[in-house]
This record gives sequence, structure tokens and C-alpha cells, in this order.
Amino acid sequence: MDIWNQRHVTVVISGGIASYKALVLIRLLMKRGATVRVAMTAHASEFVTPLTFQTLTQQPVVLDEFTTSDPHHVVHVALADWTETMVLVPATANLIAKVANGIADDAATTTVLATTAPKFVIPAMNSHMYANPATQRNLKQLTADGLFVLTPATGMLAEGYAGKGRLPEPEAIVDWLTDQLIQQTPDLPLAHQRVLVTAGGTREALDPVRYISNRSSGKMGYAVAQAAREMGADVTLISATRNLPVPTGVKVVYVQSAADLLAQVSTEFPTTDLLVMAAAVSDYRPVQSATEKIKKPADHADLTLQLTETPDILKRLAPQKTHQYVIGFAAETQHLMTNAQRKLTSKKLDLLVANDVSKPGVGFNGDTNQVTLLQPNQAPIKTALLSKIEIARTILTTAVAAGAVQA
Ligand SMILES: Cc1cc2nc3c(=O)[nH]c(=O)nc-3n(C[C@H](O)[C@H](O)[C@H](O)COP(=O)(O)O)c2cc1C
Repeated sequence: MDIWNQRHVTVVISGGIASYKALVLIRLLMKRGATVRVAMTAHASEFVTPLTFQTLTQQPVVLDEFTTSDPHHVVHVALADWTETMVLVPATANLIAKVANGIADDAATTTVLATTAPKFVIPAMNSHMYANPATQRNLKQLTADGLFVLTPATGMLAEGYAGKGRLPEPEAIVDWLTDQLIQQTPDLPLAHQRVLVTAGGTREALDPVRYISNRSSGKMGYAVAQAAREMGADVTLISATRNLPVPTGVKVVYVQSAADLLAQVSTEFPTTDLLVMAAAVSDYRPVQSATEKIKKPADHADLTLQLTETPDILKRLAPQKTHQYVIGFAAETQHLMTNAQRKLTSKKLDLLVANDVSKPGVGFNGDTNQVTLLQPNQAPIKTALLSKIEIARTILTTAVAAGAVQA
């Protein structure tokens, strides 16, 4: 389940030029399942109107606590008590100064002072305002007081020159917030588990410019790494592709060949609790990799490549297995179930994810997948055609239900 699902989030908006970006941020949080309420300063309403936030969130906006018509509750206390997560975005130098000093002279700052929820501060301002010793002192104070502060981005400012103080893009803010929440949630299903995921198609060099590989994009492995992180794990991704964005909070190690992958997995395996081998490992490599680019023969004769088998990583790891729960993947174009069952047994896997990559929308490269989960002595579980992140969550949830996490 998404960590934002049904979470009560209060977004405090102050009077910065980047306040329009808070609209996108709120949309993203709501898309993840959060219920968002907004408190804003009077100056913030000069930039984006309360009506816009009210319409977007479908919740009343707290702007002025002295004009409420409801005699039953005090506006800032009601909002502060409702809040589970508070995000100050954009946080002006002025708002930061006030919060660092416990000043509560409007509804927004009073709500900040009144809530006990974790508070995340996203500063955005002119680079000189950010570098000002007073602002730096106030930011240090916020951290010392237990608030979480995101460092602003460096880039073009609204003033027309570049500097440090820009609000990071809303997607990057959500990634940061999500990872902060994961770190602060001790009861997630994979908390304290070390998960190792391999991803992408390995490359076996023919010469310095050419290689043998396969059509694997690495997307499924990256989705598993993201899902494992969302479920609280300490995740290392061994990636044979460099083209995909690494999920926030995931450590990545890049490799090229099957031999590199074996070496890296072997190093990590003893301290791993859950291994997910989603990489498409080349079964063969050239016997020799030329040190110089192979040239066309003058007589245009055919070129014959001699290939030799690469090490079978899962088979090599099987005898070293102590407590690890191991998940493998089988991509087949025919006899899927027979081949997958054989692989499950011969490689001593705890769970095998079988996919028929000849079907449209399944397996390599796309953003969707449809798989069958095989476990020893269990009926196969067939999923619908889902996004790769949903498939990844299903795989890990099945593993947890099957006892992948030991007490
Ligand atoms: C056009 C304009 C843009 C501004 N942008 C920022 C900004 O990005 N960051 C900031 O700290 N202050 C910015 N300010 C200054 C704040 O609006 C000012 O300090 C104000 O008192 C902040 O009030 P508040 O923190 O209560 O919202 C800007 C002011 C103007 C007029």
C-alpha cells in the first residue's frame, strides 16, 4: 500500500514566487492517496488565490483564524490536530525565521506551532536571501528542533540569474518526502530487511565497441527496487542498464557482463535477506573479446563467433544459501509453465516469476507486465496485466505472506 494513502497532509504555503508549484505538488500527493488541506499566509494569497487551493483540495483553506463562523472549534488547533504530515512549501525566508523562533502571528504559523506532526520544510528564495547568515542560522535551528529541511536546487531564479535557492521540481519533492516518511515508519513490511535486486540485460563485449545483449530494459527490476524501498527495505540495485532513473533511497551498483554481475551478487549475498534476480543475464559470451575493433575481412568472408556459456548465478548461489529468500524470473516464449517449474526446482528458488514475453504488453521494455508466481508446493498465482510497479508490489507482498521476512 502507498505510504501516502489516506494520510492527512497539511501544506503550509508562504509568499514566494514558487507557490504555484505547490499546486502541482498537492496534485501529486492527492494522486498518491493523501488528503490535503492548505494553510496559507496572507502574502501567499498575493501569488495564488485561496480559491485555487480550495478547489484543488476540495477542502477549506485556512487563511485567517479570527473570522470563523464555527463556534465549536478553534481553526488552527483543529487543523494542527488533524495533521499527520506537515509540508511547508514554498517556505520563505520569513516563514523559516518565524518558525525557527516560535512566532505564531497568523493562522499558518500558529498551525505550524500547534501541531505535533513531523514537519518538512522546502525553502525557496533568492540565492542571497538563502545564503544570508540569518537564514542559515534559522535553518540550522529548524533541524536542531527536529524539522526536516530539503536543500534547495541551484539554477535559474525568478530574478533572472542563477543561484542556490530554487524550489526543486514537485516530483523530486515528493520523492524526498516519500523517502523521509519511509525512514520514519518502523512497521513497514520490509523494514530492517536488506533487499538485493538485479536489473537489466547484461552486455558481453565482442570488442571495444560491440557487445551481445538482450531486449531487457531493466524496468521490472527497477520497479521491484522501488516497491521494496516503499515497503521499508534497505535496497541495493545491481544494474546492467544506466538509462533509468534510480528510485529515491535505493543504492545502485552498475555492472556490464554476467561475470561482473556474479562477482557483485556474490559479494552482497551473505548479508542479503531477500534476493530478486530480475536481470536478464546473457547465457553466452564470446570466447574472446578483441582488444581492438574487429575489422571487416578484405574478402568480405563470413565472420564466425565462438560463444561459451556464462556462469549460472542462481545455481552458484544455491549452496551458499543460509537464511536468504530468493526470487527468480523466467522469461519464456514457449512452454512457459514447464520451463518455469523446472527452473523453480533446479535453482532452489523460493518464488519464481514467470512471464511469457511473446505476448503483447508483457515482459521486456514495456511499462506493463502479466506474470504467474510459482512457489514450491503451492498453486500458481496468475496476475492481471498491470503496471510494472503494481506487479512488483504483488511479487513482494506474496513473498512476505510466504514468510520471506524472518523475525
Ligand atoms: C514578486 C515577489 C516574489 C517573492 N519571492 C520570494 C521567495 O521566493 N522567497 C522568499 O523567501 N520571499 C519572497 N518574497 C518576499 C516575501 O513575499 C516577503 O518576505 C513576505 O513578507 C513573506 O511573507 P510570508 O512568509 O508571511 O508569506 C517575494 C516577494 C515578491 C514581491
